Amino acid sequence: MNLAELNKIALAMVAPGKGILAADESSGTIKKRFDAIKVESTEQSRRDYREMLFRSDEAMRQYISGVILYDETIWQDAADGTPLVRLIEQSGAIPGIKVDEGTQALPGCPGELVTAGLDRLAERLKKYYERGARFAKWRAVIDIGEGNGGPGVPSMTAIHVNAHALARYAALCQAAQIVPIVEPEVLMDGGHDIERCHDVTQRVLNKTFQELRVQRVALEGMILKPNMVISGKKNAKQASVEEVAEKTIRLLKACVPAAVPGIAFLSGGQSDEDATAHLNAMNRIGGLPWRLTFSYGRALQAAPQKAWSGKAENVAAGQRAFTHRAQMNSLASKGEWKADLEKKAA
Ligand code: 13P
Repeated sequence: MNLAELNKIALAMVAPGKGILAADESSGTIKKRFDAIKVESTEQSRRDYREMLFRSDEAMRQYISGVILYDETIWQDAADGTPLVRLIEQSGAIPGIKVDEGTQALPGCPGELVTAGLDRLAERLKKYYERGARFAKWRAVIDIGEGNGGPGVPSMTAIHVNAHALARYAALCQAAQIVPIVEPEVLMDGGHDIERCHDVTQRVLNKTFQELRVQRVALEGMILKPNMVISGKKNAKQASVEEVAEKTIRLLKACVPAAVPGIAFLSGGQSDEDATAHLNAMNRIGGLPWRLTFSYGRALQAAPQKAWSGKAENVAAGQRAFTHRAQMNSLASKGEWKADLEKKAA
């Protein structure tokens, strides 16, 4: 492992004013997104859609540091035969790859999940590196049981096995000279309040960093991709932007060592504008030991998907919508976003 090189890539992934495009939806997930815009999900429509994003020159050059790809996409070529990975590299962004293989039921823990994909991971990483991937992603999913106190969900078991798998994955990535994005996602589904999200996220982050240490993962060569500390979607009392920012920063400062180069949040089902406003408010607090940016899927892609709607004549509109969201989040990563910039664009 060349740690100086891993650190250089990790820093480039969170370069000032830039963030990560999570375009790594599995075939099942992208089908759901396409269903919503009435587009048939085929190998070609998925390619055309992603090619549209990667050819958004302004967005890719100025606001996007890296792109997380799904296995199908990393092997695909653009319509003119150029590998999609090359398009990303030509724009100056870094190609990355989702390497987890989704979730499975966790035995003994009804309703809870563990992420699969460690078998043969070392061999797969080698092939992805040869294709150009310089970072990877693995997502663990932690659910919060209904009600405060909850019916025992998440269990200690679910937190432990998922943290263990994240650390196994991260160590294998670094051995393959690939920067791991460590993503322990506490879901925002449910009626819990922000305090409960805070407490569960704290347990999850502490366990994750404990496992990373035990398994000798070099913190300088990884990126953390956490959820924000936020009210459950179904809770009637939604915490303010300031409260989300203040609670998230306080928790991250307590749990995430300064050796970690950067934190890139997931959007997790927040509205586009909430995801931007929260990131902005956190960066306005300032004085942080790590760079704080976005690694959004839905909050970067919902608008371009709608504008595109599967029609070749809408490609320019789709690219404009993507560029706008990427620019808004770029500003938020510097604490320079303002709500009226959204209205001006609309
Ligand atoms: P969302 O921003 O849509 O949560 O997706 C980010 C991601 O990569 C989830 O694994």
